[in-house]
Amino acid sequence: MIYLEQSGQGLCTVERIYIGKIMMNGFRKEKRNVKAKQEMQKYPRFREILILCFSVLLFGFYIGTAYASEKEGAAAPKEETAASTEERTTDIPVPEEAETEDTLEAEGEWEGITNPEAEDDIDNYSADEILADYDPESLELPSGASVEVSADDWNLLLVNNRHPIPEDYEFTLGTIRGSLQCDERIIPEFLSMLQEAKKDGITLEVCSPYRTLERQEYLFDRKIRRYMNQGMSYMDAYKLSARVVNVPGTSEHQIGLALDIYTNSYKTLDEGFGETPAGIWLRDNCAEYGFILRYPKGKEYITGIEYEPWHFRYVGRTAAKEIMEQGLTLEEYVENL
Ligand code: DAL
Ligand code: ZN
Repeated sequence: MIYLEQSGQGLCTVERIYIGKIMMNGFRKEKRNVKAKQEMQKYPRFREILILCFSVLLFGFYIGTAYASEKEGAAAPKEETAASTEERTTDIPVPEEAETEDTLEAEGEWEGITNPEAEDDIDNYSADEILADYDPESLELPSGASVEVSADDWNLLLVNNRHPIPEDYEFTLGTIRGSLQCDERIIPEFLSMLQEAKKDGITLEVCSPYRTLERQEYLFDRKIRRYMNQGMSYMDAYKLSARVVNVPGTSEHQIGLALDIYTNSYKTLDEGFGETPAGIWLRDNCAEYGFILRYPKGKEYITGIEYEPWHFRYVGRTAAKEIMEQGLTLEEYVENL
């Protein structure tokens, strides 16, 4: 201002008017600022109130959107994609209507077998039905002589929750009867075992031999769902299921070397089967045909699986005899080879 006043002394009229305008504008601006300051003093919390209103509006919008999307999610169940199937460990579809043993019975799928592996097999055949398809003389049994065993033998492949099935594992499926299949190399000895049991007056029934990965997934997931329907958390249900049904990708049923066997007079696949004449006969004689009782009582801490007196695994005669005579598990046997 002082500068302009001083320097304005030698200016022409146009210049004076221009400078005058600048001064007027500066004066008006200052006046406006003063007025704004006065307003602010009048409403000292004006800015804070404005920020608070804006935050409330934003929060309301967020809550509204979240509620709407939750409603939409509940109305439209997730589509099951291949990826979601793989991720089932964290996303188990729980059916609206609990799939109970009673509903299965009503649908004719439940025949009193409590084991999840066997309860809805389409084909369960008795030894008589199976043997009717074979001429006993035609069975080519391996010689009974002892053979050297090696940790690399196909029949000693260790599969459990710490040893998943190798990705490149290959074998040829053979058909026992109908949909009952297993590794074709074990069929002659298996049939021979059924035959000898029959001669001893033991009636055996066979279910759940070879299983696809999809079937193992189905059994495993169903087991989890059932526990969850009883009120268990997902993690508890998963852990409990894994002690009865192997985690998909780690079951001997998937490599065609395991078979579940029961008897007509005791269809419940539980511990009691081990005390039936059929269960006792199998335990005492399975090694003669190259089979072992894979999940023995008292060795759960090694196998990770509950006692299963119905689950038999082919390992070959030499190994089977050593394992059964010494009361070992396959884990212990393979470790010492
Ligand atoms: N039930 C046996 C453990 C399996 O699922 O392989
Ligand atoms: Zn089994």
